[in-house]
Amino acid sequence: MTRVLSGVQPSGDLHLGNYFGAFRNWVSDQHQHDSYYCVVDLHALTLDHDPAALRKRTLDVATWLLAIGLDPEVCTLFVQSHRPEHTELSWLLECTATFGELRRMTQFKDKSDGQETVRAGLLTYPVLMAADILLYDADRVPVGDDQRQHLELARNLAQRWNTRYGETFVVPEAAIPTVGARVMDLQEPTRKMSKSTGTDAGVVYLNDEPAVIARKIKRAVTDTATDVTYDPAARPGVANLLSLLGASTGADPRRLAEDYSQYGPLKADTAAAVISAMAPVQERYRTLAADPGSVEKILAQGASRAREAAAATLLRARRAVGLLDPA
Ligand code: TYM
Repeated sequence: MTRVLSGVQPSGDLHLGNYFGAFRNWVSDQHQHDSYYCVVDLHALTLDHDPAALRKRTLDVATWLLAIGLDPEVCTLFVQSHRPEHTELSWLLECTATFGELRRMTQFKDKSDGQETVRAGLLTYPVLMAADILLYDADRVPVGDDQRQHLELARNLAQRWNTRYGETFVVPEAAIPTVGARVMDLQEPTRKMSKSTGTDAGVVYLNDEPAVIARKIKRAVTDTATDVTYDPAARPGVANLLSLLGASTGADPRRLAEDYSQYGPLKADTAAAVISAMAPVQERYRTLAADPGSVEKILAQGASRAREAAAATLLRARRAVGLLDPA
């Protein structure tokens, strides 16, 4: 059976990019594959953070994932730091990765650019991500387009290790959706929608009220043309609306463009589609958030299920690289 693993950082409020780029695939994958999903709290330590907010957000992100439809009966949902195997394998992989390849990662360059101090963990971030994936022998990693380069690094590390120390890791493949892989900021449509760098008016959060969603989409930046065509490079604002409408309704954005000649109706239909996709999720979130103890219990069960897979791979890796078994 195919093994799936993916993760999300609890570093800010979740938004439509996370939902259409990743989470929707997580929900469908759980019914077809042996799926592991983690809230990657250790990754959230790589930039400035508030400890109390991190603790709260970690539980909150898990609550949203359940609201979106992850079913703890069929998938394994856990918190990354609850499995110490991740950091241990990460060190072994750090001694396989090179400084040069980590320094060249575009996310490292973007996030370190102009900063007075840069945490060492920001540089080694993608190695920890590779450890998350390789620990579970994941064949398939459902992510948005922005994680493509990190996935390529995970593949390179697995292949390099296997060549150097013998077959140890499964070489993973990224699974990137055809529609919604790159949801853009509604105010600055040449930048991806992001919880850390986005403008508030440009990001639709999963917990935005329907009226707020409608307002943000109505005010989305388009362009000065008057017709509607799907051209992400030349007309990123309009293409983004068509992609959101397509991702919400299951239709092809290019085809949808033929149905519209003006921005007003396109925005109204996009807002209505997003609001109706979010309504059941928001309702389940409210119910689940009222009982944080149950969510914590699900996470504890998840961590204990994850242990089985993680411990076996870690032992294989320790032996392959030459670490002495404890007596
Ligand atoms: P993160 O927390 O930034 O985002 C979680 C998922 O949401 C996707 N995503 C988007 N997709 C489309 N459009 C957008 N605007 C958009 N913004 C975010 C991301 O591609 C991601 O799939 N490094 C990862 C977390 C991670 C991970 C892992 C992922 C850690 N370990 C192991 C997979 C496997 C990250 O920061 O995602």
